[in-house]
Amino acid sequence: MTSLAVLRASELVTLSGPKRPRIGTELSSLGIIRNGGILIRDGMIEKIGPTDEIEKNLGDAEIIDARGRVVLPGFVDAHTHLVFAGNRLDDFERRARGETYEQIAKAGGGIWSTVEKTRAASELDLLAQAKNHANWFLRCGTTTIEAKSGYGLTVEDELKILRVMRQLNASRRASDGIRESRIPSKAPVAIDAAETEAAPEIVPTFLGAHAIPRGMSPDEYLEFVIAEMLPRVAVEKLAEFCDVFCERGYFNIDQSRKILSAAKKVGLSLRGHVDQLTNSGGAKLLADMGATTADHLEQTDEQGIAALKKANVQPVLLPGSVYALGSSRYPRAREMIEAGLAVVLATDFNPGSSPTPSMPMVLSLACTQMKMSPAEAITASTVNAAYSVNRGDKIGSLEIGKLANFVIFDCEDSRELAYWFGMPLTHSVFVKGERVL
Ligand code: NIG
Ligand code: FE
Repeated sequence: MTSLAVLRASELVTLSGPKRPRIGTELSSLGIIRNGGILIRDGMIEKIGPTDEIEKNLGDAEIIDARGRVVLPGFVDAHTHLVFAGNRLDDFERRARGETYEQIAKAGGGIWSTVEKTRAASELDLLAQAKNHANWFLRCGTTTIEAKSGYGLTVEDELKILRVMRQLNASRRASDGIRESRIPSKAPVAIDAAETEAAPEIVPTFLGAHAIPRGMSPDEYLEFVIAEMLPRVAVEKLAEFCDVFCERGYFNIDQSRKILSAAKKVGLSLRGHVDQLTNSGGAKLLADMGATTADHLEQTDEQGIAALKKANVQPVLLPGSVYALGSSRYPRAREMIEAGLAVVLATDFNPGSSPTPSMPMVLSLACTQMKMSPAEAITASTVNAAYSVNRGDKIGSLEIGKLANFVIFDCEDSRELAYWFGMPLTHSVFVKGERVL
């Protein structure tokens, strides 16, 4: 049994509350314990409360002094494109000269250029790049990452991306195994440093319907995704969710419905990129399909918001992509909160429209551009995000019985996380009670 105690946090942000995603005024309630402490045993939270309470029964616990610092559950990033090769610096420069995302895609940049680089990369090379990305997330305080495929668009390349995610999770388990082997009777086993690098847990999503390969019609490609890719993904259990890019020039409403229905039949839960650049009624489609989340929603109107509410779909808002595309049309977060939606915030980390792994940057954008309060933004990026990846019972808040995934930040007040922007405040990061940064 290994135990750890974190003591004297200036603010221990527990997010304790009902065992479901938070709505309305609940988003403002962070369950802060001042001068708080946590007792952790075998990677799980055993006790949480004021430091004097926790101190009463420390036993042989290793002590971490968090004096003057905020302790928060690790961020859960519910929408990323973690696995891809290269970057899109040329697109970035073209956008700075005034070209739009759609113009750049037509001219040979955009998603397609990342597809070409990702196809050319070996699984090993892609794994190395993904580990590097995962480490960036860790440095920003994120301990769980939803990750989408979608830069392969052939059976082999889509499977390659999903296998990289599986390997990232396997390398976490390998390092967990080493921790177990530190039990006295066994000698520590040497382990390759690379094997211990990928500390965040990855939640895999299949996004074969992300773009249409050259030389195919949308319908032809969609049939291929449904007949050839989806069964392999399901049989090899490579994904938990299926997603689709429902947008003009990509997949329309009917095509999106087809892929999502097929995915549902093979047991995947659903997410969707909808109403990002145009309002095509994507929010309503996802409500009809019983999706877990509807993501982007920059163009979603009152009808779309009402449909999401009726079907209990969680909106995943991605202000990083609005910012990086130089747009000013942010999703209507206040209306969504007032309508009772369990709002989630995520980075949309990808090389084109949102090259940031930083949840604190997203918190800043949520407060300055979408008029969410710092507390609402924290709830949306922790406990609500955890429910949106079907892990609300294990992560997202600091409560007895949950995993000890938490971050210590170099600030005294949790509002500072959204306030100081462009500067990492991460002091240290713990996953299942182990310090990983
Ligand atoms: O969420 N919208 C589609 N997919 C990504 C962009 C991907 C890319 O540009 O490479 C997004 O914004
Ligand atoms: Fe995305």
